Amino acid sequence: MRRPINTSDPILPGRVSPMRSVPAEIPRPDYAEQGVPIRTAPTDLIKEAATLEQMRLAGSAARRVLRKVATHIAPGVTTEHLDQICHEACIEEGGYPSPLNYNGYPKSLCTSINEIICHGIPDSRPLQDGDIVNCDVTIFLGGVHGDHSETFAVGDVDEQSLELVEVTRECLYLGIAAVRSGGRVNDIGRAIQDRAESAGFGVVREFIGHGVGEVFHHLPNIPHYYEPSAQFEFRPGMTFTIEPMITIGSPSANLWDDGWTAATKDLSRTAQFEHTVLVEEDGVEILTVEEHESQPFAQGGSSNDWPQTISVSQTATND
Ligand code: MF3
Ligand code: CO
Ligand code: CO
Repeated sequence: MRRPINTSDPILPGRVSPMRSVPAEIPRPDYAEQGVPIRTAPTDLIKEAATLEQMRLAGSAARRVLRKVATHIAPGVTTEHLDQICHEACIEEGGYPSPLNYNGYPKSLCTSINEIICHGIPDSRPLQDGDIVNCDVTIFLGGVHGDHSETFAVGDVDEQSLELVEVTRECLYLGIAAVRSGGRVNDIGRAIQDRAESAGFGVVREFIGHGVGEVFHHLPNIPHYYEPSAQFEFRPGMTFTIEPMITIGSPSANLWDDGWTAATKDLSRTAQFEHTVLVEEDGVEILTVEEHESQPFAQGGSSNDWPQTISVSQTATND
């Protein structure tokens, strides 16, 4: 199915303000000073109960930080302002904003607007009526990372973009639903690709989900498309992200010369949703929700009762 490509103005890089600092009393990951991660993948991908308890805390903190960021999303608000909100909210939680200086990344939040697939750097550009923006929060708290994002509509958004956002959200939850102990990593991509392509949308291949815990990105790799060779087998105690990036047009990516920002080559719009999840004996726990939210895929959960999407303000300003 061929669709018209959205014709809003391309996103251009704005001014990026100096790196923010984190108070010395906040425990920081090993890359915080030099920008280079030292610890690599853990040898055992099955995490201990105490680590999993910390991951629940980091996960729910990431969710609260994203909620806080969302209350500031409105036309006229700069992504730089959203970054400041994220940075301060992470510190208030007692955590370190994981993106900050990760491989030299200059900000505490990723803000990816319209045709930006992921890793957009917050800058001086004000959000515009009709934009869609993904805000990706990761917090390092209690020695582990919680990684979580949603895509938000800014003001009045066209039907096709709203459908893209909704289908991408479905892709995330259908991907989580496909995870089971003893199952294979490619079950996830199969479920996501089926849903995306049935709507006529594309699945980005260049960026994938990842193991997460004491280290920000580790094995296994989680492709969001069906990859026959991805035969890694899930076991209880494994934690990783699922973070599909879905496109209206072609999913091919083009990296900006800032070395981070990935845009669709055809400038068609793209959306992303992300949770950090835990494989259990008889189900999957979503770690990046708060305690009062639903757990549709945990044992005894009801698989259609997904956590509610976070709503935005629409009246916030840069103050
Ligand atoms: N949160 C992103 C992810 O989902 C990673 C951001 S790393 C950064 O994996 F350096 F770009 F911030
Ligand atoms: Co993320
Ligand atoms: Co991630």
